[in-house]
Amino acid sequence: MNPAIDVATLASTYAGKSPQEILKLAFELFGDDLWISFSGAEDVVLVDMAWKLNKQVKVFTLDTGRLHPETYRFIDQVRTHYGIAIEVLSPDPVKLEPMVREKGLFSFYKDGHGECCGIRKIAPLKRKLSTVKAWASGQRRDQSPGTRSQVAVFEVDTAFSAPDRPLYKFNPLAQMSSEEVWAYIRMLELPYNSLHDRGFVSIGCEPCTRPVLPNQHEREGRWWWEEATQKECGLHAGNLIAKG
Ligand code: ADX
Ligand code: SF4
Repeated sequence: MNPAIDVATLASTYAGKSPQEILKLAFELFGDDLWISFSGAEDVVLVDMAWKLNKQVKVFTLDTGRLHPETYRFIDQVRTHYGIAIEVLSPDPVKLEPMVREKGLFSFYKDGHGECCGIRKIAPLKRKLSTVKAWASGQRRDQSPGTRSQVAVFEVDTAFSAPDRPLYKFNPLAQMSSEEVWAYIRMLELPYNSLHDRGFVSIGCEPCTRPVLPNQHEREGRWWWEEATQKECGLHAGNLIAKG
């Protein structure tokens, strides 16, 4: 690991700081080597904050091929609103096509989401992360009490680091609540995914996301046919590794 970066100390020093201060640190340490991962949901807040600090901010999104039409529109709206390029990553057809041929388009309802997420999200993410030094996600502690309650603002990504090269990960929104995120979106009149107007809170792929009822936790709208403890697709597998 780069001895110049003391992740544990920085993580505790920045634990109580604002998302903007955490992003500032990320840009100071990594500059153009920092990539923001954008899902097309309320993590537009992260894009907005990063863009305000660095107009050259680099953003990628994982196009699973199964996103809602509204999400595709929103991703493009964000691209034009901020005047940024968004790198859209696709699954490898060599892996995808045999799975769909063999198991159809909805195998996850029967077999669980692991295989499909593995091909449509994790493999493209892995490919991308193998070329970058640091990334930032919009995950928050309040999104999933079971798996994200300990999310650090800065960490070594134990899931995607190469054996000889640490990959650094920032979670600048870790301490923000859903209420704060939405106050930010409304106050600054940011564009947002129109699915939120229809009761969707957490947004992923179309077949695996549904709106939630009042007072239902947002995570219950994702992979609702599976156990709560399984509701991570692997993008943030480090959370599960950290929990042991
Ligand atoms: S997920 O792992 O369950 O799908 P979630 O939807 O909560 O993740 O989003 C948390 C963060 O993961 C987002 O703010 C974003 O940084 C990243 N993320 C999730 N889905 C995508 C995606 N399709 N493309 C890029 N980043 C994503
Ligand atoms: Fe496949 Fe659903 Fe995972 Fe999307 S969320 S990659 S459709 S299993």
